[in-house]
Amino acid sequence: MLNIVVCVSGGGTNLQAIIDGVNNGLIHNTRIQAVISNNPGAYALERAKNAGIEAICMSPKTFESRDAFNDAFTERMIALNPDLIVLAGFLVQIPTRMIAAFPNRIINIHPSLIPSFCGVGYYGLKVHEAALDRGVKLTGATVHFVDDGTDTGPIILQKAVEVMENDTPQVLQKRVMEQAEWIILPKAIDLIAAGNVCVKEGKVVISK
Ligand code: GRF
Repeated sequence: MLNIVVCVSGGGTNLQAIIDGVNNGLIHNTRIQAVISNNPGAYALERAKNAGIEAICMSPKTFESRDAFNDAFTERMIALNPDLIVLAGFLVQIPTRMIAAFPNRIINIHPSLIPSFCGVGYYGLKVHEAALDRGVKLTGATVHFVDDGTDTGPIILQKAVEVMENDTPQVLQKRVMEQAEWIILPKAIDLIAAGNVCVKEGKVVISK
């Protein structure tokens, strides 16, 4: 059984795709142990509660310093000791100590085809605004392992999505979620749960 903790900050549609995937058998042999959000108002926490999953809020704003938050967040995660940490729209930088404690056991979903439109400052709608500004005909989503950079870890899965004429950032974001994110994030978790994913010389190898 792959025990996972999902970290969220917003609406939680990717979390919902994971919950649904576990419930409908798309994601095998996996249990969502807990959901953690930095945002007390995140609807993702409601989704967790509705699914009977422990919903934890740890906001940096309630700690005396960022270091104090990082230590508490890391200690809590170590205590939960999941097999895999899934960042599903989590807008908080992962503490270095947590990355060191969970090597190649933290994955993230990013709404572009990395290495395009990623890195510091590229999150949420900003990613899609940049894709539209550049005039790309294809964009998509990427699931990757988290290392101590920003969107720089080994890539696990990607899925391309067509950019249509007159797309707005909002319309494009929704298409990327529906046609890519909500498909490859559950798929990546299922592959990891089956033991079919490993990292060799900094590259992901998937055995079917
Ligand atoms: C998604 O677009 C994801 O790619 C990005 O943040 C957004 C989270 O959306 N990292 P949701 O909270 O899963 O609905």
